[in-house]
Amino acid sequence: MNTYNIAALAGDGIGPEVMREAIKVLRATEKRFNFKLIITDAPVGWAGIDFAKKALPDKTLAICKASDSILFGSVGLPDRDPTIPKEERPERAALLRLRKEFGLFANLRPVKLPKVLAHACPLAKERQGDGIDILVVRELTGGMYFGQPKKTEDLGGGNQRAIDTMVYTTPEIERIAHVAFKAAQLRRKKLTSIDKANVLENGILWREVVTRVGKQYPDVALDHMFVDNGAMQLMLKPTQFDVLLCENMFGDILSDEAAALGGSLGMLPSASLGATNGNQTFGFYEPAGGTAPDIAGKDLANPIAQILSAALMLRHSFGLNEAAAAIESAVEHAIESGHRTGDIYSASEPNARRVGTRAMGDAIAAVM
Ligand code: IPM
Ligand code: MG
Repeated sequence: MNTYNIAALAGDGIGPEVMREAIKVLRATEKRFNFKLIITDAPVGWAGIDFAKKALPDKTLAICKASDSILFGSVGLPDRDPTIPKEERPERAALLRLRKEFGLFANLRPVKLPKVLAHACPLAKERQGDGIDILVVRELTGGMYFGQPKKTEDLGGGNQRAIDTMVYTTPEIERIAHVAFKAAQLRRKKLTSIDKANVLENGILWREVVTRVGKQYPDVALDHMFVDNGAMQLMLKPTQFDVLLCENMFGDILSDEAAALGGSLGMLPSASLGATNGNQTFGFYEPAGGTAPDIAGKDLANPIAQILSAALMLRHSFGLNEAAAAIESAVEHAIESGHRTGDIYSASEPNARRVGTRAMGDAIAAVM
């Protein structure tokens, strides 16, 4: 029987409760598809700071390194302790550090609005066309998130200057472009590349390199859009998009926008992948949403993003495509049979039942 080692880093806020549901579903999947997961929990984020005074404790990092993939919850509680310096806070010291440490340059965020959740999409029905189905491919280890210099300087007289630097090299753009074109080949063969080539040097290089890489994928239709127009087009006509290729910051913004179109940020999973080694890809799987401290610990959070992230892990890291598809269809089934967490609930749906985090996880695991 194939056995895989997983590091489960639940983190803060709603992290632990949605992680618990994802593991429940994985355990049910394991039985049905005859593979074995060895899951090791480890603290991260504020939980890491509480445990070892570090957002990413050494022990947690060691567990991650010894694993085949990481299933991540979420980190960051803005108001928790303002005295902790920004470089040591969970967002930078744990999440960004892990992305960099494992070279997770390719972030895949698939947005799909289930037919029965048309009401949860902020757009009118006629703009939803035959359904919204977009894959955001976000570059994750470059751009303004990591470019140097990155600092705040004192200018005297009570004034400061903050500097973030947007940097991309040709190889960084090439490798993410290849990921996006390959993904498009498996979908509807359309790729929209997002940039700001009318203003930024980065945008000009991005467009040139993506165009050049595109010549190797003649079966994929490529177009380019400025990011401001892309943000607008997502609202006006989201059905025109198949794969959206973005640099780090633009992808951060547009993926939240796209998530809203998919019904809820609580349903958007993500896979962050590094280079492939043989037939296994080390991956990091996390919901695209945050810790949602306002609803944490109240059995209100939607666990679907975490559960779908687990499905992406089975597919992208372990090649367990059938098992991944079974989880995705169990999620659809639970939604079709009326299970709704608060974020996707509408009193106008006759067959909908408002349920908590646990009950949603139970419903999905039961289908498995
Ligand atoms: C995301 C999040 C993170 C990001 C934050 C929490 C640092 O918004 O994964 O989209 O900006 O990348
Ligand atoms: Mg984000």
